[in-house]
Amino acid sequence: MSQDRVVLITGATSGIGAAVARALAGNNVSLLLHGRGADSTSKDALEQVAAEARALGASTQTCHADLANPGAGATIVDQCVKHFGRLDQLVSNAGHASKKPLTDATPAELMASVQSMAAAFLELAQAARPHLAESAAASVVLTSSFVAHRYTPGELYPITAAAKAAAESLAMSLAAEFSASNITVNCVVPGYTLKDPSRYPASNWQDQLAKPPLGRFGLPADVAGAVRFLLGPDARYITGQKLAVDGGLQLG
Ligand SMILES: NC(=O)c1ccc[n+]([C@@H]2O[C@H](COP(=O)([O-])OP(=O)(O)OC[C@H]3O[C@@H](n4cnc5c(N)ncnc54)[C@H](OP(=O)(O)O)[C@@H]3O)[C@@H](O)[C@H]2O)c1
Repeated sequence: MSQDRVVLITGATSGIGAAVARALAGNNVSLLLHGRGADSTSKDALEQVAAEARALGASTQTCHADLANPGAGATIVDQCVKHFGRLDQLVSNAGHASKKPLTDATPAELMASVQSMAAAFLELAQAARPHLAESAAASVVLTSSFVAHRYTPGELYPITAAAKAAAESLAMSLAAEFSASNITVNCVVPGYTLKDPSRYPASNWQDQLAKPPLGRFGLPADVAGAVRFLLGPDARYITGQKLAVDGGLQLG
């Protein structure tokens, strides 16, 4: 059911972020949709998601910023509040994954990953806090990753795991700090989730990996459903949680 709210979604160009936009879109919902926007393909993809959300009844505004740049998170929140006049909910979803082994990875690559996923999340949450504190539906959801919880040889994403673990830890601390303002902060922890085939070539990981216990890989809509729940009225008493949406991947 739609409720009157303004939601900022980072990384809404494709995949999980785009699915969250579709899941939340409806009358009385305003969406600030963010993408990195490094090229015209990326910008066009975000405009397409915005058009789909508007067709579902939402008001939309798009913005672009590379979260690898310090300060980008605060700029995005600023744009949202300038355009819609308020901010009720934040979905910090933008991210990427690197399989580079630690034997080759550099400390600079680690810091870049931490900046774009953990530090950017902190910036977004800090900038959002005064606006969220004015809302009766104030919630933050972070998209983390199974890679921060699973260390199976052949499936390692060491740099990304470190950045996502840092972001999750920040989310737990923010949940504690923000509770005084009745702002909930939770994480979704996706497992292997199929990418948008219109943006990414078919990957062979689907053939190489055993399927998780529920017998299939995740869809962006699976994760979006969990995000919608955590932002919804039935989750107002839930904070500081990490909800795995992984078909049982973490069971074994
Ligand atoms: N797919 C999976 O199997 C999986 C599993 C676990 C967790 N996750 C997490 O789920 C989230 C969404 O991933 P996805 O699978 O939906 O991937 P996706 O389709 O590639 O979407 C990633 C989004 O993040 C944006 N982004 C990436 N790096 C950015 C940066 N430095 N600055 C600003 N925006 C940036 C991208 O913008 P542009 O397109 O403009 O570059 C895009 O909108 C990520 O945090 C990812 O780590 C995914």
